[in-house]
Amino acid sequence: MRDKMIPAFAKAEGGLFSSVEKADVGSSYQEMEKQGITLMGWADPFMPDFSMPECVEKALIDAVKRAEAPHYTAPIGNPMLKELIARKLERQNGLKVDPQRNILITPGSDSGLYFSILPFIYPGDEVLIPSPSYPNNYLNVEIMGGKVIPVLLKEENGFQFVKKDFEDCITKRTKAVVLTHPNNPTATVFNRSSLEILREIVVEHDLVLICDQAFEDFCYGNEMITPAAMPDMFDRTVTVFSFSKGMGLSGLRVAYIVCSDIVMDTMFANGVSVLGATNTACQYAVAAALENPSFMKEFEAAFDERRHRAYEIINSIPNVSMGLPEAGFLSWVNVSRLGSSSELAAYLVKEAKVSVNDGINYGPGGEGHLRIVLGVYKDTARVVEALESIRRALVKWQE
Ligand SMILES: Cc1ncc(COP(=O)(O)O)c(C=O)c1O
Repeated sequence: MRDKMIPAFAKAEGGLFSSVEKADVGSSYQEMEKQGITLMGWADPFMPDFSMPECVEKALIDAVKRAEAPHYTAPIGNPMLKELIARKLERQNGLKVDPQRNILITPGSDSGLYFSILPFIYPGDEVLIPSPSYPNNYLNVEIMGGKVIPVLLKEENGFQFVKKDFEDCITKRTKAVVLTHPNNPTATVFNRSSLEILREIVVEHDLVLICDQAFEDFCYGNEMITPAAMPDMFDRTVTVFSFSKGMGLSGLRVAYIVCSDIVMDTMFANGVSVLGATNTACQYAVAAALENPSFMKEFEAAFDERRHRAYEIINSIPNVSMGLPEAGFLSWVNVSRLGSSSELAAYLVKEAKVSVNDGINYGPGGEGHLRIVLGVYKDTARVVEALESIRRALVKWQE
């Protein structure tokens, strides 16, 4: 059957039948935990420990008892939730939108991201992706028949944009930019001057911007600008948001797309056949989180402490370095002077009993790096202990 598939789809392996099962789709990851391996490769706050905020737990239980719970919510989403999201967008993102016209609730932002890119890609269209980036961005574009053009982010520029790097990639076929902001895996918050460069490129070359802001919530004093709120950008931008990262509610599978009336009209029309509807009870649960977001302060304090501890511990390893993460709970570690990141990731499972992500999964610029997720486990001491194990193992590697 594979030979009947489009090549871009067929070449992606979930790994059920291969020797290395992909960590985030298979069961090998949970198997590793049974063997006492600390899991630092899954971007899910406090995973696998209990971390449901009380207000969300209560709202979810109440919602399950509603008559509507086992029924569809209209595919465009719960109107009450969309009202709350519109208020958040105005408060946090500087976006003033009509809740019933410019917001579409989606079952998680992975499907939202796919659905946001889908309308714009004709086979052969070129899509600029600042790289390294979230792996799904490359795969989505390729599956749709587009051509990924990576715009290399350089460590010496703090992974920020250089206009010439974008200009060098523009051709007559350039259609869109797909941006993860703040970036996964580098934990970079793109600053005002980077986003001004992006705005100029998008406007001058009449491009579409797909902007994934799943990690927008904890920026530790770095200015978090929403590109769609910049002049001339709202009509050209489709922004994807999620409840999975900042609020730690990935299991509820609720996210949302924000865009102009013109784009949203077609998204509403096509949404039911691509996305279906989002879980009815879970939409009430995330609404409670939006109404009572104070629990996020505890998340932020834990992640802030962890990024400083990681910065200290990792930078104390000879020939290994990382920048202070500017957002969220990811860290991006340069191990290029020690050898191949694939070999090192495998070595850390054996020697340090810690599983991290090999940088090659994040596209060009990812090689020679490891992504270590600092947001896992409720107990910060456990995370610090794992970082110390990594330190000892990488020192031993060099002896
Ligand atoms: C950058 C980024 N965007 C989107 C997602 C998808 O999150 P969800 O589908 O849970 O909203 C992830 C998940 O890891 C991510 O890292």
